Amino acid sequence: MVANRTNSGQTRKPLLLALRGKAQLPPPIWLMRQAGRYLTEYRNLRDQAGSFLDLCYNPKLATAVTLQPVNRFGFDAAILFSDILLIPHALGQDVKFIERDGPQLSPVRSVRDVDKLNSELDFAHLAAVYETVSNVATQLSEHVTLIGFAGAPWTVATYMVEGRTSKNFDLIKRWAFSDPIGFEILISRLTDATIIHLCKQIEAGAEVVQLFESWAGVLPAKEFLRWCIKPVKFITEQIKERFPNVPVVAFPRGAGTGYTGYAEATGVDGLGVDYTLSPTWVAERLQPNVAIQGNLDPAVLLVGGSAMKAAVSEIKLALSSGPFVFNLGHGVLPQTPPEHVAELVQLVRED
Ligand code: CP3
Repeated sequence: MVANRTNSGQTRKPLLLALRGKAQLPPPIWLMRQAGRYLTEYRNLRDQAGSFLDLCYNPKLATAVTLQPVNRFGFDAAILFSDILLIPHALGQDVKFIERDGPQLSPVRSVRDVDKLNSELDFAHLAAVYETVSNVATQLSEHVTLIGFAGAPWTVATYMVEGRTSKNFDLIKRWAFSDPIGFEILISRLTDATIIHLCKQIEAGAEVVQLFESWAGVLPAKEFLRWCIKPVKFITEQIKERFPNVPVVAFPRGAGTGYTGYAEATGVDGLGVDYTLSPTWVAERLQPNVAIQGNLDPAVLLVGGSAMKAAVSEIKLALSSGPFVFNLGHGVLPQTPPEHVAELVQLVRED
């Protein structure tokens, strides 16, 4: 097990300090999807690797890709290069990433389908992911934090059941609403797998873990409690029991009014906010109880110039006097000019 610097409780890493509730000036910055197709150096290694999954399971190349944006832009964090759909893959589901068409999975739509999956995570491929984490951990400079991640169970389940990125989520809702007891078996299998996967990343050197709940915004309030809040709360408790000093961040994208009380209900240390929320509302209503991460619209980063300047000032003015991590309100878009990212880092760090 790699020594985890966060276990000492002592750190000078701005991201860790912010997630422990201490305001940082300037605020630390990293971006969701900071590694990816907008970088030529990513596209080169991606071509070398073969498929996207081959890249995720190649520790040498995945380490290089994780470090590319950190080295180019000087971010305060590296996020493991991987994907939330490696968990269904390690549970034995057929997962493919089709060029320009996104992920395709052989769907799981009943308890019988769940029974056909592996009863435990298969580490044959995942071992390579933990090797990437420990490689990256040894190569980061001392102010940079290493973030591990997983998809939250509901979000991963949407891909498992729908078999792709869904538009109206009718198949998963049909199952969850008509047979909640059966659907719970899938969610609970994913919850257990997620805890194991995150703990393994922490043991390998991840200092923060983030749960991506990209499809928090598609459920009625009661189901949001059952399928989003409840599993995230359980995962957070289990991580904290084993690794009390490792901050847990959740990003319930599109949760809307569900953002109110989310941090208290789940116990997370950091809350990723999407770009629909006004920074002043976030500062007044959410930041008193939790460190905030967000929330520049990725389209504003793509546009750059005066629109970006104005939006960055507004976010900094509202949020940087409390615990805050600058980020986007969703992932970097593939068409984003890298120069805009360099300028964003500068804008966030200047007075
Ligand atoms: O943020 C990072 O730089 C770390 C790596 C990372 C990836 N995916 C790499 C990736 C992270 C944190 C993710 C999370 C992820 N994956 C989410 C949650 C965040 C979000 O975007 O809502 C989701 C829903 C997925 C599932 C997924 N992976 C989809 C739907 C797609 C296809 C769409 C797309 O953007 O290409 C992927 C592929 C994917 N994951 C790519 C990358 C860099 C592009 C693959 C390529 O190189 O062609």
